[in-house]
Amino acid sequence: MRTIRIFDTTLRDGEQAPGCTMNPREKVDLARQLERLGVDIIEAGFPVSSPDDFEAVRMVAEAVSAPTVAALCRSVRGDIDAAARALEKAKKPRLHVFIATSDLHLREKLGITREKALEMIRDSVSYARALCPDVEFSAEDATRSDREFLLTALNTAVDAGATTINVPDTVGYATPWEMYDLISWLKQNLRGGGAITLSVHCHNDLGMGVANTLAALRAGAGQAEVTIDGIGERAGNASLEEVVMALDTRREYLGMGTSLNLRQIYRTCRLVSTVVGQKIPPNKPVVGRNAFSHEAGIHQHGVLKNPLTYEIMSPDTIGIYDNDLVLGKHSGKHAFVQRVEELGYSLPGDALEKAFSRFLALADRKKTVTNKDIEAIVASSGYSIPETYRLHSFVVNSGTVISATAVVKLIRDGEEIEHVARGDGPIDAAFKAIDRIVKVGYQLVNYNIHSVTEGEDAQGEVVVKLKKGDHTVTGRGLSTDIFEASIKAYLNAVNKIIAQ
Ligand code: KIV
Ligand code: ZN
Repeated sequence: MRTIRIFDTTLRDGEQAPGCTMNPREKVDLARQLERLGVDIIEAGFPVSSPDDFEAVRMVAEAVSAPTVAALCRSVRGDIDAAARALEKAKKPRLHVFIATSDLHLREKLGITREKALEMIRDSVSYARALCPDVEFSAEDATRSDREFLLTALNTAVDAGATTINVPDTVGYATPWEMYDLISWLKQNLRGGGAITLSVHCHNDLGMGVANTLAALRAGAGQAEVTIDGIGERAGNASLEEVVMALDTRREYLGMGTSLNLRQIYRTCRLVSTVVGQKIPPNKPVVGRNAFSHEAGIHQHGVLKNPLTYEIMSPDTIGIYDNDLVLGKHSGKHAFVQRVEELGYSLPGDALEKAFSRFLALADRKKTVTNKDIEAIVASSGYSIPETYRLHSFVVNSGTVISATAVVKLIRDGEEIEHVARGDGPIDAAFKAIDRIVKVGYQLVNYNIHSVTEGEDAQGEVVVKLKKGDHTVTGRGLSTDIFEASIKAYLNAVNKIIAQ
């Protein structure tokens, strides 16, 4: 049985997905949960890309101890210096150096020759190796590169001191057969023998990210680069939960496994979904709402007799329990704090107090408060940003015979500021009233509302995304009143923009 190393790049490649930006505090919470999940390597970011990303890598490096923490750098010394500085406090740092190797990328994107690329690999990898004993080299667009040149580039990296060699299918172009063939060939021809870990990194543009990853592992790759919920550029990356559960469910056939704590999978997927504000699709393999629900009578009958009839894995393997203990208004603060931590969040004092009072208010209105409610409460507590503006009160008016208006009163530094606006519906009116108060330019790019749990007393959660320049922020608001939830979500995002 081979043990595959799991390299999680949710905080780097995952974060590059549209609208999935995470701030440093959110990355730390996720990194701690990834540590509980037991991933081998956490890629925390691309330090030279922004001060925020540098800070996130620095904070993650300090926050976790078991996993290796990797930071991405282009094949230039400045990037490597920044990454090495960000990783200073990491117990197990890794510098991840990359450059494209396909002629298309070399010519059109970088405007350099193959020889120049080899020179850059030699220089950057040996420079990185002098700073850190653990260096990964990635040949971007490897699967569309000329094979012989790819091998030359990878061998150059090995000779310069790389300890892991990664083969990305950057644009999700390969098929499982090609991937198997390429990795088998590289296994035979790459210098360094068993001392080098061969890795694979597959994108999902044609829906083959997971299949390609499995094919590469079967051909001898020892590391899989994946993201939670499969988030990532365009159609995303191979999803961690699907790769890991395929290895576990078919371990006898595949002869491979991981050292992950599988029972943390569901929690981790939910945490990522909450932090980036993207719902897990109901039909998502492994963790979607329908993954373990059976609609057809004949299936239900079979599952009741023996779950194995229609379930190839059991929900509790990945940490889905029917009887996830619910909390009520008598549960007390200790139980609440413990549950928040179990769900993967760490709240600083003020935010914890705020979340606890929201929990009490909800517990007064709802008989039972579930994990989903608690996740939503924590995620909408604005725990990671200063609350420049707070909601004081609002009134909305709408109907078929009047134009929608809203009056919103906010508090800033103890001062109450009120504005009224007309809009295309009451929510639009409320947002316009807020815009008049805060006077910061941004654009609403997404608005989403859903109920957190079932039932008439369910809370509504609103997720909005605001864009300012190249930056998108996610705001969340929670209430049993959808107007209030919308205003809170908008304010949460506005506060994030102001904080940035
Ligand atoms: O997809 C890709 O090629 C990458 C590399 C930087 C590893 O994300
Ligand atoms: Zn990628």
